Amino acid sequence: MRTLFKEQTVHIEKVFTPEADIILYDGNCEDFITQLPDKSIKLVITSPPYNVGKIYEQTIALEEYLQSLESVISGLVRVLADDGSICWQVGNYVDNGEVFPLDIYFYRIFKKFGLSLRNRIIWYFNHGLHASKRFSGRYETILWFTKTDNYTFNLDAVRVPSKYPGKRHFKGPKKGLPSCNPNGKNPSDIWEIISQDWKKLVWDIPNVKANHPEKTAHPCQFPIELVERCVLALTNENDRVFDPFLGSGSSVIAAIMHNRKALGCDKEPEYIKLTCDRIKSYRKGNLKIRPLGKPVYKPTGREKVSMIPEEWLKTKKEGLF
Ligand SMILES: C[S@@+](CC[C@H](N)C(=O)[O-])C[C@H]1O[C@@H](n2cnc3c(N)ncnc32)[C@H](O)[C@@H]1O
Repeated sequence: MRTLFKEQTVHIEKVFTPEADIILYDGNCEDFITQLPDKSIKLVITSPPYNVGKIYEQTIALEEYLQSLESVISGLVRVLADDGSICWQVGNYVDNGEVFPLDIYFYRIFKKFGLSLRNRIIWYFNHGLHASKRFSGRYETILWFTKTDNYTFNLDAVRVPSKYPGKRHFKGPKKGLPSCNPNGKNPSDIWEIISQDWKKLVWDIPNVKANHPEKTAHPCQFPIELVERCVLALTNENDRVFDPFLGSGSSVIAAIMHNRKALGCDKEPEYIKLTCDRIKSYRKGNLKIRPLGKPVYKPTGREKVSMIPEEWLKTKKEGLF
């Protein structure tokens, strides 16, 4: 039985079928990629394992890790459409306290396959572990590569509100007229989207409203809005969006929300099941989703967690520090 689950209006498969709306492959991504026709994918968006010892991976030497992903990337380049894009989201590999920024290593691999970098997007989040022997890390990156110079980029689909929409031209023929785009500005290459650092957000400061509505059991989940921005900007309706390291399925949800065809694989059957459950909830209208562009919550200073603890104030008054 190839079909994963039946729904009246969507066609969901387990193996590549040209007319499928959603394909979820439960297994190694390299085996799935070999099923895909050349140039059949418009957007690959993914976050590969970082080789940091998460429950779904075994840490190996950095060189070995990079080689195994180079082989995956070679297959991805083959299946990418000429006007398509790859968005490769990574953080750091850390060995004995030394930091190795993975995007630096991956850049060279993508260049070897002839791709062109369009942006190195900084995904900034103001939460995470507090380091004690270096500055605390607060961003990861998304390398956005294209296969050719003729790529899809729908800027109008992802504009964000201008900071000063009332600005006007102060000289020239347009003097006195509004100078901003009425549809908003380019979102830039720094994206502040709430991170997946659920533990800090949800458990340490439960009163802060920033706790994320999309949390699942997966340890490194993409916020759906992060994928949505790439889907809207880099694909058109009915294009295929593929995440070879699907995890909790956020990429699939973002794709189907915007009428794109979605493909994903994960070697852990429990994550494929999680994705199926999230698709079902989405289609029933009860999947909680943080809306694209919703401002990140900023404390006002009046919340209990944003106030200086009374004990510290007392110690300060007594001149102890
Ligand atoms: C960093 S997580 C991706 C999380 C995902 N972005 C999300 O939104 O949940 C990497 C995922 O890749 C899966 N994985 C690792 N190696 C794989 C392989 N060779 N083939 C398929 N999936 C793999 C892991 O099980 C894990 O779920």
